[in-house]
Amino acid sequence: MPLPGLHRIHLFNNQVVLDLWLGDATEGLTHAHAHTDGRIDAWFLDGFAPSKNASMWQPALFAQIKRLSRNNATFATFSAASIVNHGLKEVGFVIKKQKGFGKKREMLSGSITLDKTAAMITKQAPIYHRHPLKVDTQSLNEQHVAIIGGGIAAAILCIETG
Ligand SMILES: C[S@@+](CC[C@H](N)C(=O)[O-])C[C@H]1O[C@@H](n2cnc3c(N)ncnc32)[C@H](O)[C@@H]1O
Repeated sequence: MPLPGLHRIHLFNNQVVLDLWLGDATEGLTHAHAHTDGRIDAWFLDGFAPSKNASMWQPALFAQIKRLSRNNATFATFSAASIVNHGLKEVGFVIKKQKGFGKKREMLSGSITLDKTAAMITKQAPIYHRHPLKVDTQSLNEQHVAIIGGGIAAAILCIETG
């Protein structure tokens, strides 16, 4: 359904979990849960160019990118615009200018080293990790489940069983 917010899709027998956030990037990232050690290892920033889409490339977006980054997270973007360069530098990324692809003369890439406290937290196990159920679709086709009551447990059961 084309509804705003998070759409979680399990692929390849649950080996890949795709989180699709529909809506504004900053708004979506604000709602994304970060483990204590962050969440993202690599960012590919592919919004429209800042000259055509200035409202997206704002400090609030870069702050969310930092909040959700794991230690040594990397980024790459087709853009070499100064608003992107400065915005990412401001939150702590070390920026490299690279030769761009095709018609683009330059592009940016880089990485972020989080402070000592954050880097130490990275070594800790997550407090809680939910493993998706391995659903036997064959047997699901033959069975029907009715969940009566609309509480939190019911909502989680609906997600788990698809
Ligand atoms: C150059 S396209 C990249 C598409 C995608 N990376 C791909 O390869 O198919 C830029 C995309 O950024 C999206 N976009 C622009 N502003 C946005 C914003 N503020 N929040 C979320 N997405 C945005 C546009 O809708 C568009 O789909």
